[in-house]
Amino acid sequence: MSEVATPPDADATGVRIAVVTGASSGIGEATARLLATKGWRCVLVARREDRLRELSSGIDGEVEVCDVADREAVDAMAARILERHPAVHLLVNNAGMPARGTFLAVDLDLVERVIGVNYLGGVWCTRALLPGLRWAAAGRGAHVVNVVSVAGTTAFAPAGAYSASKHAQLAFSRSLSAALAGTGIAVHAVLPGFVETEGFPQKGVLKSRVLGRFVIQPPRVAEAIVGAVEKGKREVTVPWFPYRPVSIVQAIAPGLIGRFAGMSDYRPGSVPEAPPASD
Ligand SMILES: NC(=O)c1ccc[n+]([C@@H]2O[C@H](COP(=O)([O-])OP(=O)(O)OC[C@H]3O[C@@H](n4cnc5c(N)ncnc54)[C@H](OP(=O)(O)O)[C@@H]3O)[C@@H](O)[C@H]2O)c1
Repeated sequence: MSEVATPPDADATGVRIAVVTGASSGIGEATARLLATKGWRCVLVARREDRLRELSSGIDGEVEVCDVADREAVDAMAARILERHPAVHLLVNNAGMPARGTFLAVDLDLVERVIGVNYLGGVWCTRALLPGLRWAAAGRGAHVVNVVSVAGTTAFAPAGAYSASKHAQLAFSRSLSAALAGTGIAVHAVLPGFVETEGFPQKGVLKSRVLGRFVIQPPRVAEAIVGAVEKGKREVTVPWFPYRPVSIVQAIAPGLIGRFAGMSDYRPGSVPEAPPASD
């Protein structure tokens, strides 16, 4: 195993550095706010600079404008961060986008894009920031949190491409966790159910009133993310009920969940129209 020299002043200031992607709204914003109250210095990553600057001024954070699906842009962003902070104690891979629609109708460009953002974005950010995580691991330890989804364990037909991207992200998270075992870098997966946010306005788009009853707010997920880091939890479903049992049933009786998810739907008008057939 290669030795990582601890920088003389890596932890001398006592400031822990967290890089939070998708920090301009929803779960990422709530997580950065919570981390800041606990003394973390947050590097806020997303595309909307105005939103990041507003948050940053309130929590004394730092802003990095970046499209996480753009590998070169991620490398450049990571290089800037590592120059300022050789040790990165926490990376929260949270940036993500929805992709409503079944595989029968979803725009194929959207299928590609959602994989690029929700799955590959986390891969690019982790690899690019790995030197900083290793640096921190040589001191007090480091963490990667992947904000996945219950859609990562449960195939949800009305958002098929989204679900596939989250399955890939969960496989990435679990593989990374095994690959980093013993290095001092802990990997956590947080799997939220339905959360009311800008990109995922669940209460307005879900047709089922039963599913609508289980919609939670971003601060609850932020607590789960920070809790996973503080308590060393590898995989957390939030809220546990009804989603954890649903994930277990999906694993042992996939047909049952498949039938239910196939019957669920979004409200008319909340799913982008499929483009006309080209033939
Ligand atoms: N809401 C839910 O029901 C739910 C459930 C389970 C899991 N999740 C997951 O939670 C994460 C956060 O979503 P959210 O619900 O908080 O939605 P949100 O409020 O829409 O936030 C999404 C964040 O991701 C950023 N983002 C999107 N595409 C990006 C890109 N290409 N490069 C960089 N940043 C990008 C957005 O910022 P910019 O637009 O400024 O780039 C925004 O900050 C996602 O991974 C999502 O899949 C959400």
